[in-house]
Amino acid sequence: MGYENTIFPEGTSFLVTGAAGFIGSNLVETILNLGYEVRGLDNFSTGRRENVEEFLNYENFEFVEGDIRDFEICKNVCEGVDYVLHQAALGSVPRSMKEPLIYEDNNIKGTANMMEAARLAGVKRFVYASSSSVYGNSTKLPKVEGEEGNVLSPYALTKKVNEQYGSLYTQQYSLECIGLRYFNVFGRRQDPDSQYAAVIPKFIKAIRSGQQVEIYGDGEQSRDFTYIENVIEANLKSCIAPKEACGKAFNIAFGERFTVNQMYKLMCELLEVELEPKYLDPRPGDIKHSLASRHNTENYIGYAPSWSFTEGFVEALQWYKEYI
Ligand SMILES: NC(=O)c1ccc[n+]([C@@H]2O[C@H](COP(=O)([O-])OP(=O)(O)OC[C@H]3O[C@@H](n4cnc5c(N)ncnc54)[C@H](O)[C@@H]3O)[C@@H](O)[C@H]2O)c1
Repeated sequence: MGYENTIFPEGTSFLVTGAAGFIGSNLVETILNLGYEVRGLDNFSTGRRENVEEFLNYENFEFVEGDIRDFEICKNVCEGVDYVLHQAALGSVPRSMKEPLIYEDNNIKGTANMMEAARLAGVKRFVYASSSSVYGNSTKLPKVEGEEGNVLSPYALTKKVNEQYGSLYTQQYSLECIGLRYFNVFGRRQDPDSQYAAVIPKFIKAIRSGQQVEIYGDGEQSRDFTYIENVIEANLKSCIAPKEACGKAFNIAFGERFTVNQMYKLMCELLEVELEPKYLDPRPGDIKHSLASRHNTENYIGYAPSWSFTEGFVEALQWYKEYI
């Protein structure tokens, strides 16, 4: 799994924000099963109650329904916590193009609230979700930290600002922050139903309901699709990475790219269907190619992802077959 040797003292406690979401609920599940204490926070804006309901009978789990835009809540949930894994945010580049201001509130104000609350509570480390979208219009491949272009969406801007706060809080307030630039994460519990669903669950849902899959652009855009297990590894390793990693943000991906057409073809093969997709106009704010360098992530946090896209894809499809 890649995090077997990431061991914390007994009784270590984690706060996972965005606990009812895709990535947050997977972090909660793993950390509970490792035997540590977990507090989850979510306002269910895009998360689902059923993603946390299954954990409510764990003795080492506590769930708080609340909003990171409310500073009092942020202070309360940080009390007594060793590590914060901050995932709560509004995702979706296209939604942010339509509704930019709610991104300012949830992603920038919400994250600033969480960092300040973590500082006041004396949290040991604050690990937060950033995004590959911070590379913006840079066409360089692979993407290397420090070689960003101009951001292309309000969503990407919020993540860029979060990283600047992370750097500031580390330098000026001694709150050890590490940002994780996730690249197109996929896996169990990723929501297929939202209007802004990510591409993999959206395609699976369409295929399984007998609908034609819609691909934006010519489908030759490529992505470094990253399996959820690698993201879990990155979060846990970031908590105990050497101090030199703090104040920085790192790429979290497998380091291999597939076009949307290739991914769709493999999906059809694995689901044993033959369906021609429908091609639509490209979407504003989307980047053409994405591929991560793992160099800094390996050096600074010891990241060594064990799940390739194909291995993760096979496992994720098994889950979707059962639950969609
Ligand atoms: N999934 C990806 O491919 C991907 C890629 C890059 C970055 N990210 C980032 O990773 C994090 C988790 O993403 P995800 O895919 O699990 O999304 P998600 O929508 O499934 O989870 C986000 C969770 O945060 C909660 N939330 C949103 N605003 C909140 C608020 N104001 N207060 C409390 N809770 C709030 C939502 O209800 C949801 O449960 C986000 O920060 C996202 O921007 C995800």
